[in-house]
Amino acid sequence: MNLKDLYINYFVSKGHKQIPSAPLVPENDPSVLFNTAGMQPLIPYLMGEPHPYGKRLCDYQKCVRLTDLDSVGDKTHHTFFEMLGNWSLGDYFKKESIAYSFEFLTSVLNIPIERLAITVYEGDDKIPRDEVSADAWKSHGIKEERIAYLGREDNFWIPGDSGPCGGDTEIFYWRSDDEIPERFDPEDDRWVEIWNNVFMEYHQDKDGNITELTQKNVDTGMGYERVVAVLEGVDDNYLTSVWKRPLKTLMEIAGKPYEGNETSMRIVLDHIRTSVFIAADPAGIKPSNTDQGYILRRLIRRAIRHAMKLGIDTRSDFTTPLALTFIEEYKKYYKELEDNKEVILEVLKGEKEKFAKTLEKGLKIFEKVAQSSNKIDGETAFHLYDTYGFPIELTKEEATLRNMEVDEEGFNEKFKEHQEKSRTASKGKFKGGLSGNSEIETKYHTATHLLNAALKKVIGPSVHQLGSNITEERLRFDFPCDHKLTEEEKKQVEELVNKWIEEEIPVTHETMSKESAIESGAECMFIERYPDLVTVYTIGDISKELCGGPHVQNTKEIGHFKIKKEESSSAGVRRIKAVIEPKEN
Ligand code: ALA
Repeated sequence: MNLKDLYINYFVSKGHKQIPSAPLVPENDPSVLFNTAGMQPLIPYLMGEPHPYGKRLCDYQKCVRLTDLDSVGDKTHHTFFEMLGNWSLGDYFKKESIAYSFEFLTSVLNIPIERLAITVYEGDDKIPRDEVSADAWKSHGIKEERIAYLGREDNFWIPGDSGPCGGDTEIFYWRSDDEIPERFDPEDDRWVEIWNNVFMEYHQDKDGNITELTQKNVDTGMGYERVVAVLEGVDDNYLTSVWKRPLKTLMEIAGKPYEGNETSMRIVLDHIRTSVFIAADPAGIKPSNTDQGYILRRLIRRAIRHAMKLGIDTRSDFTTPLALTFIEEYKKYYKELEDNKEVILEVLKGEKEKFAKTLEKGLKIFEKVAQSSNKIDGETAFHLYDTYGFPIELTKEEATLRNMEVDEEGFNEKFKEHQEKSRTASKGKFKGGLSGNSEIETKYHTATHLLNAALKKVIGPSVHQLGSNITEERLRFDFPCDHKLTEEEKKQVEELVNKWIEEEIPVTHETMSKESAIESGAECMFIERYPDLVTVYTIGDISKELCGGPHVQNTKEIGHFKIKKEESSSAGVRRIKAVIEPKEN
């Protein structure tokens, strides 16, 4: 049986409820780009809010951590991983948690007790040394020599720099054929950490102040792949059953064996797998130059670069068979992969095509500079970024390979300069016409009405405005809808809005009584919030809405409409962020 099933079955048999893996992109936590631990989506419940599933939970959670990005290529580091976790939200504490971990490892996974060692928190001036955990381990037969007390660096866990936190106890496994030493030395890397049980009884704020939480929680995390490697007795994660088929697919594509090509093969496999999961996430991330989109872009581009090193023709459709293998391997546990198959394939293929066109030209620049200098100056680095789509990290990597340096500061300066220039340019383009600054917002107001009307046509008449927000940069529109919009639906909506813009439809308005407005069929969300006399804005026969305005006089003034993001806002509510761009002449 798969380790995920064994784990969930065990904890369910101990009264835990299985919760689904949360999306990779946190829904209500803008402080991180991706979920980095199983506990991340549970923070409010660790802080005391009751969880709808109760006080004992377990799951397998997909996570992305970028701190290890540079180590990917070795045997054990990954950007995507799955964390097996069980939680007590103010229910059981240290003793029971340790008993469960011990029983699962030795009786379900049949790991011999001789291969285990433990660290516990040695304490500090506020928190006592954790003898309770040490005693609990001893009661299960763990020898004193196999328990080490470590400090805050090692045995205190907090998500980032603030949040629910506490001392932890970590379980290590002897992964070597060498004789197992009696005394546990945590510095000896033949001992690998497999499980972390955090006893979250404190909260630390951003200034470092520690207070007690209202409840004592347990938060545990076990790295799925690491434990699979341990159980299968290999020290290279890529040689476990987890990677068997993807590696086989890659070897076929490259026409090369794993041996001798390990680093590039691991990077391609790791980065494509992470990209598949990011592209499948409900947040609808697409490669871009900001936030999660930039990470996705970097991962795909780095994978392509290493595919090239493997001799793969990067103009061929090599990402598709690889992505399909990952979808096949993981869909049983992550249905979203199957549901978003087309999107995933398209994201990879589209980004690959974009990059393949310029990659070779960019590399030629490298070779040229390398002939006469050992430094890539800021201007060249920016040129590589701007014209050839080289993420700065890729430039740095290529430079290192050639013993060259990159003037990163110079790059950053050029980057800023460029941003400022394009901001001024887009302001300039919008000058003239209506009044001053809010002109762009005026355009967004009218675009919002068109978007509402287009959604009604494409999704159905039940669409209406649940919320809207306009800045100089974008519009945001929330509406009821039971599904994530497909690429096709988004395209249709965009095309409709742009068609109406091109049709140069006049926007008219009339003042009338609230009653006549409703009678005339004008749309309105919060009728009670409007005064008795209202303004109804009409755009041809496309839209009629009660609205305070202001609006443009003709749709032709709007520009080009583009959906930037479509995501879940809350249950049954979707959110669109869209921009308008100056029309291309
Ligand atoms: N939250 C703990 C970790 O990530 C379990 O290690």
